[in-house]
Amino acid sequence: MLTEEQNRRLTQTGAGTPMGELLRRYWMPIAAVAELDDKPIKPVRLMGEDLVLFKNERGDYGLIDRHCAHRRADLSYGWVDGCGLRCNYHGWQWDPSGRCLGQPFEEVAHPDARFKDRVRIKAYQAEAKAGLVWAYLGPDPAPLLPTWEPFTWKNGFVQIVFSEIPCNWVQCQENSIDPVHFEWLHSNWSRVLNRADSPKPPTHLRVGFDEFEYGFTYRRVLEGGSDQDELWTVGRTCLWPNGLFTGGHFEWRVPIDDETTLSVGWFFDRVPNDMEPFTQDRIPYWASPIKDPKTGRWITSHIMNQDFVAWVGQGTIADRTKEHLGESDRGVITMRKRILEDADAVARGGEPKGLIRDPDENVCVALPIIGRKYFVDGFARDAVTGDLQRTPGLVLRQDFPFLIGQPEEIRLAYKRAMGFDREHLAGVRPETR
Ligand code: FES
Ligand SMILES: [Fe+2]
Repeated sequence: MLTEEQNRRLTQTGAGTPMGELLRRYWMPIAAVAELDDKPIKPVRLMGEDLVLFKNERGDYGLIDRHCAHRRADLSYGWVDGCGLRCNYHGWQWDPSGRCLGQPFEEVAHPDARFKDRVRIKAYQAEAKAGLVWAYLGPDPAPLLPTWEPFTWKNGFVQIVFSEIPCNWVQCQENSIDPVHFEWLHSNWSRVLNRADSPKPPTHLRVGFDEFEYGFTYRRVLEGGSDQDELWTVGRTCLWPNGLFTGGHFEWRVPIDDETTLSVGWFFDRVPNDMEPFTQDRIPYWASPIKDPKTGRWITSHIMNQDFVAWVGQGTIADRTKEHLGESDRGVITMRKRILEDADAVARGGEPKGLIRDPDENVCVALPIIGRKYFVDGFARDAVTGDLQRTPGLVLRQDFPFLIGQPEEIRLAYKRAMGFDREHLAGVRPETR
């Protein structure tokens, strides 16, 4: 349980608030690279700031104020012109660093005045990595944009999925350090929803939480398992400050503002050895809906949709003065305490946890990964029913289980990559989970 004041500190994301300042020390994913290739301008709202992301003709990304510094028109209706973004109202032109490149009528009326040198627009850094475009809203010098280990993996089908969640980001992130929910929100509830006759899922016997450089790991021993399993010896990761990393995928909970969160999923599916080499020219992206338009109720059929139901159910900003926390919440309690300490450290002028500033370290930043060797070395298609089956989370799956609404062309591209299309279908074993 927190006091009202602590809850406010924890959940506010605006510039000048303690947590807003902490979050501004980290790179946040805001778009897909392919999205800007399709359309070079994207309106973005990030931590309460209205911005516009664009890709100029040189291929640089710009992230600037949504409102033109002339008379405040919405620059997301402008167009890319050379190195800059041109406002549709009077044609002023802005480059990614916030410089004004042109003011057409001013230059006619007063050719020598160079008014453009005296106006600037708010501008932030934006960079591409792993098929995502990332933003940094903090002070200089920016830390390096992390090269998390899976970003260096080969022979995987990667896809990026966005969902907009109408609640505060902290309750989403608390889910990243909550092992017990998996048994109930996913396993047991899915059984009920599907009226399944399958055996009851194993219950949690033990949970453990450990801090490391880039976040916390959460570990579990399940009924029928032991403390020799990788679920206990390696665990999964609550990635600092707003991510979840399970081994095969990342989820970031990016605050749009205090009451809305952009869920960004990055999914890696290793192709079987017989499909190597596999490369992607473009990492596909899609947006997943969260509400069923027919019933007006939240969608419950997919794993992350079930998470969303829990998060939005906690309220737009969860009222933590009314909770009753128990042993299963030890990770949540520890994380809240640690992140508030980090916000205090930033307020005192210090560095928060997990920033990377050494380029050598950033060549490949290792994380705890259950089944690392399968992601790196791959596996024979036939092995899926053997060893692999005992590696939690590693499956050769036919369908995408995390979010609803995968577009057909991405589904087919995935099937082709995995060898599930017609040519390869002969001999493929049934899906194992
Ligand atoms: S408002 Fe943008 S050019 Fe006038
Ligand atoms: Fe979950």
